[in-house]
Amino acid sequence: MLTQEEILEIRKDFPYLSQEWDKKIVYLDSAATTQKPQGVLDALTDYYKFQNGNPHRGAHYLGQVATEVFEEGRQVVADFIGAKSPNEIIFTNNTTQSLNTLAYILGLNKVKEGDEIVISILEHHSNLIPWQYVAEKTGAKLRYIYIDKDSKELREEDLDQILSEKTKILALTASSNTLGTLPKVKEIIQKAKAKSKDIYTIVDGAQAVPHHKVDVQDLDCDFYAFSGHKLLAPMGIGVLYGKEEKLNDLPPFFYGGEMIEYVYEDHSTFLKAPMRFEAGTQNVGGVKGLVAAIRYLQAIGLDEIDAYEGQLTQYCYDQVKDMDFLDLYTVKNNHRGSVITFNLEGIHPHDVASIMDSYGIAIRSGHHCTQPLHRYLGINASCRASLAFYNTREEVDQFVTHLNDVRRMMGLGSK
Ligand SMILES: Cc1ncc(COP(=O)(O)O)c(C=O)c1O
Repeated sequence: MLTQEEILEIRKDFPYLSQEWDKKIVYLDSAATTQKPQGVLDALTDYYKFQNGNPHRGAHYLGQVATEVFEEGRQVVADFIGAKSPNEIIFTNNTTQSLNTLAYILGLNKVKEGDEIVISILEHHSNLIPWQYVAEKTGAKLRYIYIDKDSKELREEDLDQILSEKTKILALTASSNTLGTLPKVKEIIQKAKAKSKDIYTIVDGAQAVPHHKVDVQDLDCDFYAFSGHKLLAPMGIGVLYGKEEKLNDLPPFFYGGEMIEYVYEDHSTFLKAPMRFEAGTQNVGGVKGLVAAIRYLQAIGLDEIDAYEGQLTQYCYDQVKDMDFLDLYTVKNNHRGSVITFNLEGIHPHDVASIMDSYGIAIRSGHHCTQPLHRYLGINASCRASLAFYNTREEVDQFVTHLNDVRRMMGLGSK
C-alpha cells in the first residue's frame, strides 16, 4: 500500500500540486479532470519541438517520426487495456466522441424498430443522450436498469427482467461518476449475451480506467470508451476500443483524409479499422501525452493506486457518514469509485462549493451530467468530492473540517 510519504513524493511530479501558486487549492475534482505530471507535459512539448509532422502522410523524416509516435501509442494503449490488437484502438477526442461515434456507426446501422437498447440510470449524459437519439431515429425502445435507492447498486431483478432476446445494445458505465457504484460489468455482459445472441455490448470506462486495471478481453465487451484527460493525459485525446471484426463490420462516420482506399468522382472505398474511423489530422501530441500518462500510472502500479484510493475514499466516507446534517449518496459497498457525493441540509450545493472554494477546496456541485439519476434520487443537484492517488489524508481532513465551517458561514452552526 502506498504510504503518505510516498504520496508526498508523487506530488512533487505534479507542478500544480507541488508549487506555491497565487491560489493553491486542495484539488478534489479529479473525476472531472486530473492534474498532469511533469512527464506528460514534457512529452507534449517534446513532440511539438522535435517530432511534429502529419502522420500517415508524406515520406519525409518528420512525417515518419509522427507516424511512429502515433502507431506506437496505439500499441501502448492496446496493451494497457488488454486489447488483442492495436487495430482495435481508435483515437478520438474523448469518451463523449467515442460513444457518439458508436451511436452513429452502430446504433443507426444495426438497430431497428422493435429492438431494445438497455442502459442504466447511473449513466453520464454521454452514455445516455446518444442512445435516446438512436431510439428516436430507429424506433427502438430505450430501457433502464435502476438502482436500489439504499445500497446504490444496480437492481438484479431489473437485469433479469429487462435483458432479453430483444436487447440489441447494452451500454453500461463501469464506474458511476456520481455515486461511485461499480456495476459487475463482466457478469452483466455474460448474462446479456446468454439472453441475446445478436447483442452489442458497450462499456463507458471514463471513470474506471484511471483507477483500476482494465482488461477488455476478460470483460468480453464489444466496445469500450475512455478519455485521456481523466487519467493524467492532456485534454483532446480519447479512445474507442472495439473488437476488430465488429469494427470492420461498421461503416465510417467522418469522411475525409487518410481513411480511404480509393476515391472516384462518384464513390469511394475505405480502409479497415482503425484508420477507417480516423478521418483528418489526428492528435499525435495528445497520443504521446497519453502514453506518458499510462507509463506513469504503470510505474506506480494500477493495483497500488486502486488500493490506496479505496482506503482514502473509505477514510473520507467514514468521517462524513455520521454527520447528521449531511445526506450522503455514495454507494455503500466499500469496493467503489473514488467519489463522495452529498448535500448539506438546507444549503444549495453551489453555495457549498463556493464556500469550500473560499477555503481553497475544489469540489464539484451540480448534476454532474447525471440529471436522470438525480431526479431518480429525488434531488436536483449535489456536491461531489472526487479523489485521486495524489490526494492525502490531510487534504481529506481539511475537506471534512471545512464542511462544518460551511454550516457556520450559512448561520446554521456546527452539530
Ligand atoms: C462516466 C463518464 N462518462 C463519460 C464522461 C464524459 O467524458 P468526456 O467529457 O471526457 O468526454 C464522463 C465525464 O465526466 C464520465 O464521468
